[in-house]
Amino acid sequence: MCGIVGYIGEKDIKQILLGGLKELEYRGYDSAGIAVLNNGEFSIFKAVGKLINLEEKTKDFHPQGFSIGIGHTRWATHGKPTELNAHPHVGKKSYVVHNGIIENYAELKKELETKGVEFLSQTDTEVIVHLFEDLQKEAKTNFEAFEKTVQTLHGAYATLLVTKEEPDTVFFAKEGSPLLIAKNENGEIYFASSDTAVIGEASQAHYFEDGDYGYASKDGVFIFDKDGKPKQPKWQKLEQNKLSAQKEGYRFFMEKEIYEQSDVLSDTLLGRATENEVVFEEIDKELFDGINEIKFCACGTSYHAALCASYLFERYAKIRVSVEIASELRYKEPLLMPDTLFVVISQSGETADTLETLKMAKNAGLKTLAICNVDNSSMVRLADATILTRAGIEKGVASTKAFATQVAVLWMLSLYVAKLRNTIEKDALQNQLRTLRTIPQVVKVDDGMHERIKRLSKRYLHGHGFFFIGRDVFFPLALEGALKLKEISYLHAEGYPAGEMKHGPIALADPELFTIALLPKNLLFEKTRSNIEELSARDSTICVVGSEEFEKGDDFIKTKPHRHYMQEFFEMMVALQLLSLEISVRLGNDVDMPRNLAKSVTVE
Ligand code: M6R
Repeated sequence: MCGIVGYIGEKDIKQILLGGLKELEYRGYDSAGIAVLNNGEFSIFKAVGKLINLEEKTKDFHPQGFSIGIGHTRWATHGKPTELNAHPHVGKKSYVVHNGIIENYAELKKELETKGVEFLSQTDTEVIVHLFEDLQKEAKTNFEAFEKTVQTLHGAYATLLVTKEEPDTVFFAKEGSPLLIAKNENGEIYFASSDTAVIGEASQAHYFEDGDYGYASKDGVFIFDKDGKPKQPKWQKLEQNKLSAQKEGYRFFMEKEIYEQSDVLSDTLLGRATENEVVFEEIDKELFDGINEIKFCACGTSYHAALCASYLFERYAKIRVSVEIASELRYKEPLLMPDTLFVVISQSGETADTLETLKMAKNAGLKTLAICNVDNSSMVRLADATILTRAGIEKGVASTKAFATQVAVLWMLSLYVAKLRNTIEKDALQNQLRTLRTIPQVVKVDDGMHERIKRLSKRYLHGHGFFFIGRDVFFPLALEGALKLKEISYLHAEGYPAGEMKHGPIALADPELFTIALLPKNLLFEKTRSNIEELSARDSTICVVGSEEFEKGDDFIKTKPHRHYMQEFFEMMVALQLLSLEISVRLGNDVDMPRNLAKSVTVE
């Protein structure tokens, strides 16, 4: 996703901006750019694709002495990933970079166009710089023009603006997207959307709060709150070690990745889950023309996301769905029919089995779609169309945020297809979209819940096995919970549909068989409850995950009351991830690199 950097000082500004962007690279992007103001002249460089392309373009650029500059990596939301749409965006004598979405950009653009302003890009960002220059005409100072600009914008933004008229100053504003300012002992000033970009360069940082705006120059940093009141920066010491900084204080990458799910899910939904519809700029509606079936294919966690999709697509889009494990599909001589859309799901985009099935589908002449986290991966290059999940780099071998973002994309896609096929009413769609937009909040880790799970975990370190049970989408979630646990605790765990226990598995029930029961209030509550009772009657040790305590359970992980089963799904997902993590920690295992496993399985 988008990244921002900025700098004021005498060091090699090109290296600082490009180095900062490099540190933000893991978030994913499709174009990048920098603008440097040195000796009264702007130098601008933009490139589509990886940073190496931008580095190439700047290879003969060597500014000397004092400069100010801003840089950006862009993940396209409004407008395709082209050089013209890459930031920084230019007015007549000012440049801007921006993360987030300016919701009222269309009306602002219209207004500015009637005044004769010409827009070069398709982005929402460009309005900021033109609005600023328009307001500059009346304002007494550049800061006044910037302040009025910020007051006019609606939506989410972290933005930096530089203008030729004030060549030692960077203007900044933050609302809803992260932004910080940092400094070091030499009086240099840095800006970034995440501190990883300034670690090793700056020693202290101040993290802006929503509504903050202001300016910085050699003379100091001037911050104002949303009511225009001046405020003092709260400088915090920055970590100096890049590697441990990457874990940002968490014990393991897996833990960090569980905690960052809220942020990455916001990225996943950004520009896609709007008020009235799902927008996927990256795919054409024609992809679904003549399609009567969707076949999902994946491995491991991605396969579990595909199973969730099968419920959501049939429920909302009323389309036939089949789900295949890639290693099985490869050799079963499958019937691949031309009216089937073949969808591969993969975090890495490199999993050998899944990649091979994508080739099979292409060879059979099927339309193909990849739902993937890694841009430019083999699957992304091969598929007819791609939807990126925007989870950022996932380092823990046990997948967490990749799964969360896959399910969010699939849920959105089911609604997108439902709208295309007219199988969802307007109100119902709006309600789903409203619910979707709550998910970043739902997955925020609740400290109380994490503490409780930490304590609880000591009771689940032995036994002869775990059953994770659930119904509907909570069945694939149960499968995913069991997979997480076995991957990092090396304990035997299985996921089952709750209603299936009585057909055999219940024979294993005794006090040393641990059942983790997913009991959502908003979906098949009574049915699942009865299944849990059957296990309780056979004396299995039961830990219920849900919002309503179940008197026949032994332990209880309480989730918040929600109005929609998918909200319960996402909160339970976090609970299961934390449970595996804490059990693994107590067993002394290597959480991030469990035995026998690799992050990307590129062999058959
Ligand atoms: O990169 P992919 O999503 O294609 O990977 C598929 C599986 O190898 C992967 O999900 C694996 O199961 C994870 N270790 C699960 O945590």
